[in-house]
Amino acid sequence: MAAKVKRVRKAVLPAAGLGTRFLPATKAQPKEMLPVVDKPLIQYVVEECVASGIENIIIVTGKGKNAIEDHFDSAPELERFLEQRGKVKQAEMVRQISNMVHFSYTRQKEPLGLGHAVLAARELVGDEPFAVLLGDVIMPGPHPATRQLIDIYEETGLGAITVEEVPREKTSLYGIVDAEPAPRPPWGKRLLRIRNLVEKPKPEEAPSNLGITGRYVLPPRVFDYLERTQPGSGGEIQLTDALRMLVQEHGLLAHIYEGRSYDAGDKLGFLKATVEMALENPDFGETFRAYLQSLKL
Ligand code: UTP
Repeated sequence: MAAKVKRVRKAVLPAAGLGTRFLPATKAQPKEMLPVVDKPLIQYVVEECVASGIENIIIVTGKGKNAIEDHFDSAPELERFLEQRGKVKQAEMVRQISNMVHFSYTRQKEPLGLGHAVLAARELVGDEPFAVLLGDVIMPGPHPATRQLIDIYEETGLGAITVEEVPREKTSLYGIVDAEPAPRPPWGKRLLRIRNLVEKPKPEEAPSNLGITGRYVLPPRVFDYLERTQPGSGGEIQLTDALRMLVQEHGLLAHIYEGRSYDAGDKLGFLKATVEMALENPDFGETFRAYLQSLKL
């Protein structure tokens, strides 16, 4: 571990957005609670935190998001009901959800952007490094993206973000990095030093095809930059704008992620996640595969 680098123990999960890409489903329920197979999106994200060694999760909520708090709260009546009917495994599964990790909540009064949501967690994070995981992006797999970023931070003392190759014609849907190789074992060529970040550039203006996909490990000084950040693209306070200041004044690394990721806040991304996770389900994956094949598309 680099000298004097604090351990990353906390994660911020912004979940206060309006979810307009998923209307009408999100009119009266949080998009982070939409289920992929049998778990709400945000539970996958919480499980990634736990698998990455995070001890405290801070969820940023807003109006109409109470279901998220209820989901991670204990449910003694439901547990008793299940136990009385001999459904011991189900009761244990329900209990596990609230016991996985320590949860805290803070509210973003208005959805003024991702950067603004992260800033709402400042008091709860305090003066220590922290992870940020978007509440609607799921990245399943044996090597959690967040764990890899934590290892990079603890080794180098620099913040790090996950990037992925995205199709050129889709750069305007992502924050795109301008980065140069900064190889270092064990990450090798997948580790880059960021020179600049551009929010949603047109393909012809994009400095690369490496898009930011929703996982970050950041030093606490990023809160100072967020305080100074003015509304940017779409009139929102963008995390990318604060990260640009971090790049200039301190440095920031990018890690090219090799696993799968789904932007499940988007209808097509959600459907892909659902189909692929259903195919992997040990109880009905094979039956579902046979069903898909029977469709003869
Ligand atoms: P998105 O841009 O995907 O969320 O932000 P959104 O604004 O809800 O979505 P659309 O574009 O209207 O469909 C990624 C994550 O950041 C949170 C969202 O809840 C989501 O989990 N977020 C976004 C906030 O917490 N606050 C905001 O002001 C914006």
